[in-house]
Parts: sequence; structure tokens; C-alpha cells
Amino acid sequence: MNLSFKTGDELILFLILVILVIFAIVILFVVFGIFRALKQIDAERSGKVIEAFSFNTWWKGLTGAVPLEKEEVILLNHNYDGIRELDNHLPPWWKYLFYATIVFAVIYMLDYHVWASSPLQEEEYTQEVAVAQKQIEEYQAKNANSIDEKTVKLLVSDAKVVAKGKEIFTGKCVACHGAAGEGGVGPNLTDEYWLHGGTINDIFKTIKNGVPEKGMIAWKATLKPNEIQDVANYIVSIKGTNPANAKAPQGEKVAADSTATK
Ligand code: HEC
Repeated sequence: MNLSFKTGDELILFLILVILVIFAIVILFVVFGIFRALKQIDAERSGKVIEAFSFNTWWKGLTGAVPLEKEEVILLNHNYDGIRELDNHLPPWWKYLFYATIVFAVIYMLDYHVWASSPLQEEEYTQEVAVAQKQIEEYQAKNANSIDEKTVKLLVSDAKVVAKGKEIFTGKCVACHGAAGEGGVGPNLTDEYWLHGGTINDIFKTIKNGVPEKGMIAWKATLKPNEIQDVANYIVSIKGTNPANAKAPQGEKVAADSTATK
């Protein structure tokens, strides 16, 4: 049984279940007591004596064993060099358990195979995988939004990230930075010169907070952190592409390898 509770409600439901089970056991004992008392009254009325409840009588009832002194009654005629055989019945505990398995099998068959009201193992597996998949997505969505300039990752080798970044760049940035990042109102993003630093962390920070006094918008209100990461990676990926009509360098030259995360 999996005892990890996802919500407080599940815990409360479980506790209610435990209390119900305890309650059912108590009721069973009470019913058993009343039953015995009634039997006692009945026996007294008809002058019979019934044995008081004891572990021994209960055990005898369960095993149905014939007492040693009466063994001759069930002794078979076979005699194998002195080894003889008793014709014991199946013990009642075993017999009733066997009947119970038959009842269980019928219920199981109807539930799982005839009415198909409960999921079979394979279906249960698919359901659980679907739930886990959703949890992964939720986790990733939450995690993606916690990216900042310190945790941003250099993912230029991930074609999917770069493609997403290009899409955002084409939609939101080309007006000022040019279709190929060659620069326009805003600086050339393909050269080695940077006004605000050329590491992935710097680029993320510039895009996120912008440089409002110089006309670069702060994108944190429009783009999600993972989208800023995508577009920052796209910018790193177009470095050194030497597009036509490139704007003259602005800012300081940054060594080629310093685009890596600090
Ligand atoms: C309205 C015009 C405009 C738009 C749109 C714009 N930018 Fe800028 N961007 C600028 C200007 C102007 C600068 C230079 C700021 C300065 O001089 O400090 C700049 C600077 C930058 C820098 C820093 C360059 C350096 O040399 O340090 C980066 C990176 C950048 N922009 C990325 C983007 C991205 C990504 C987008 C789209 C999501 C975008 N920009 C959209 C105008 C714009």
C-alpha cells in the first residue's frame, strides 16, 4: 500500500477508513457476544449444557481435528509395515478459505472482465503514467519560471531552444535589432562588442530588465523567464554570423569564449 498522502483530505479519508475498520471489528465482537448469550439462554431453557467459550474449543472448531482418544474411528485399514493412515477431513479453516477464494474469484471475474468496472493492470499503468506525465509538466512549467540571470543556462547546442528563441526574436526584436541581429535602432547583436556584457547571464539580464532610458524595453512583463532564456540563447547562437549591413560595433570587446556561463 502506498502511504504517501498528497493532500490533507486524503489523510483524513484514510483515518476515517481506519476508524471504520476498528468499528466493524468491535461490532463483530459484540454480535458474537450476543449470539453466545442467546445460545446460553436457549440451552438453559432446554436443559442442555454448552461448553464455555475457550481457546481450545475455538481451535478445535477451526481445525476439526479428531481427538487422540477417538482416533480408531477414523483409522483406515491400510497397514504399511506398521505405518497406518487416518482419514481426517479437510480442516474447516482451510475449507472455508477455499470457498472464500471461489466467491472472490466470481466477484473479481465479474468486476474486471465481465462488467470491466475496474481497470486492469495495463490500464492502471497507463493512467498512472498519464498522472506522472502531468506532474512532470507542472514541475517543469514551475521550474521554467524560476529561471533568472543567475540560473540561466547556455543551451546553444539545443536546436529546439534556439528555434524557439529565433521565433521570439523575429516576433519582438527585429524592429530594432534587424532581421539577422545586424542592428538598427538597437546595437548589432552578432559582433563581439557588448554594451552590457556578453555572457548568457548578462544578455538574460539586459533582456529581462531592459535599458529603458536608451530605448531597450524591459521584457520581463511580456516574456516568461524560459522564453527570455530561449531568446538569449538565440542571440548567443548568431554571434559571428557577420550579417549584411551590420551596425558598427558599440561597447566593449568581449573575448570569444566569455559567452559561457560565469
Ligand atoms: C524598441 C527597440 C528595441 C526593441 C524592440 C528591442 N531592443 Fe534590444 N536594445 C535596444 C536598444 C536601443 C539597445 C541599446 C541599449 C543601450 O544603448 O544601452 C538594446 C540593447 C539590447 C541588448 C544589449 C546589447 C549590448 O550590446 O549589450 C540586448 C541583448 C538586446 N537589446 C536584446 C533584445 C531582445 C532579445 C529583444 C526582443 C525580445 C530586443 N532587444 C528588443 C532596442 C530595442
